[in-house]
Amino acid sequence: MSDECTIIEPLASPLAGHVRVPGDKSISHRAVLFAAMAEGTSKLTGVLDSEDVRSSICAVRELGAQVELDVDDGGAFAGQVTGWGAAGPVQPEGPIDCGNSGTTARLLMGMLAPWEVEVTITGDESLCRRPMRRNTAPLMKMGVQFKPAEADHLPITEVGNPNLRAISYDAPMASAQLKTAVLMAGVYAKGTTTLNEPAPSRNHTELMLPEFGVPTTAGTRVATVSGPVVMHASDVNVPGDPSSAAFLCAAAILKRGSSICVDDVSLNPARIGFVRTLERMGANIEEARAGSEGKEPFGSICASHTPALHGCEVPSQHFASIVDEVPILAIVAAHARGVTVFKGVGELRVKETDRLQAIIDGLELIGVDAWAEGDNLYVEGDPDLTVPAMTEFDSRGDHRLAMTWAVLGMCAGVPVRIKGFDCIAISYPGFMDAIRSLEA
Ligand code: S3P
Repeated sequence: MSDECTIIEPLASPLAGHVRVPGDKSISHRAVLFAAMAEGTSKLTGVLDSEDVRSSICAVRELGAQVELDVDDGGAFAGQVTGWGAAGPVQPEGPIDCGNSGTTARLLMGMLAPWEVEVTITGDESLCRRPMRRNTAPLMKMGVQFKPAEADHLPITEVGNPNLRAISYDAPMASAQLKTAVLMAGVYAKGTTTLNEPAPSRNHTELMLPEFGVPTTAGTRVATVSGPVVMHASDVNVPGDPSSAAFLCAAAILKRGSSICVDDVSLNPARIGFVRTLERMGANIEEARAGSEGKEPFGSICASHTPALHGCEVPSQHFASIVDEVPILAIVAAHARGVTVFKGVGELRVKETDRLQAIIDGLELIGVDAWAEGDNLYVEGDPDLTVPAMTEFDSRGDHRLAMTWAVLGMCAGVPVRIKGFDCIAISYPGFMDAIRSLEA
């Protein structure tokens, strides 16, 4: 991660027009990993080319999948993946380095569970600080061994077990990474594996596994798979990432005179909680469905400048649907009249960095009061908010924070400095080009 400061220049004009965002990160990871697990050759298109997804691609290559993905004219990965199917993965030569990608590390744990391999999983400094026990605990109940057994942090060595037990597990938090790991292991366990969660997390896994031949049920807070079954290849076209679209929509809402549409983006309700939250703040934003890719709905999200935003309360049951968007929503809340409270957002403390503290610290730099009480985040907005020119924000190596501070500065009409801005390559390398393409 670089410590250099990048100067982000303000927007030269209102934002206008249509734009597309790169492939959804969560769906891209799953497409690559499920194709690697399957028997036969899957054709994938629209796969996000970013550092995180590259971590998943490298991981499955080291485990024996044949990945032939090239960057197409639109900047997405397209091509084919031939999986290991019933033969299982090969023993990799060394540890698997997941870089910054929590999704790669946690899903890998489920993927390796049913096989006679011993694999050390590691990652960068940020990933090695993130909790892993949430994933190892249910997998141990299924019969997987981890070394050290009580470890909560990478590096961790996993020893798979070809005789996995199916379990019914009550997850302590709504985490799609936890849910997915258990379901991936469940594909090879005898019987029905059930995962209950306290609130609905994103459901891309449940929507995609049936396409790969896995008997799956998907409820509101429960998902099951029945195994053992050998997955078969399936073609996946990945829609645009709503988490990336959220930054462009927020910029349009904050920048006077703007009106934009983000097209071909996933409209999965578990992912567009930010649209619902912005509506509650009185923002001009709406989605229009155009069709579906497999079982994933997609369409356009259109947003325009909203002069009179107001604070709102976001209930904790909605948190999972805005888990990655709280930083940019906090910036919009900072421009709204009154206090916005995001309830039950304690999980933000264990993201790529402590996002809860980072939001509070960054807003303090511009004189906005924000504070945490227990697991709730409060932001006291100011419709007349100004940002001092050349304010220096620290991305803390976190891609979503880097883009959050960039949107704040660009819409405030002053240049700002962002430390470690290049980390946006983790999820959205083309972010600056996209936003500049919307300038008149
Ligand atoms: C993801 C799940 C979420 C999210 C992350 C991607 C996924 O994490 O924050 O960016 O693809 O399953 P948690 O499972 O920790 O909530």
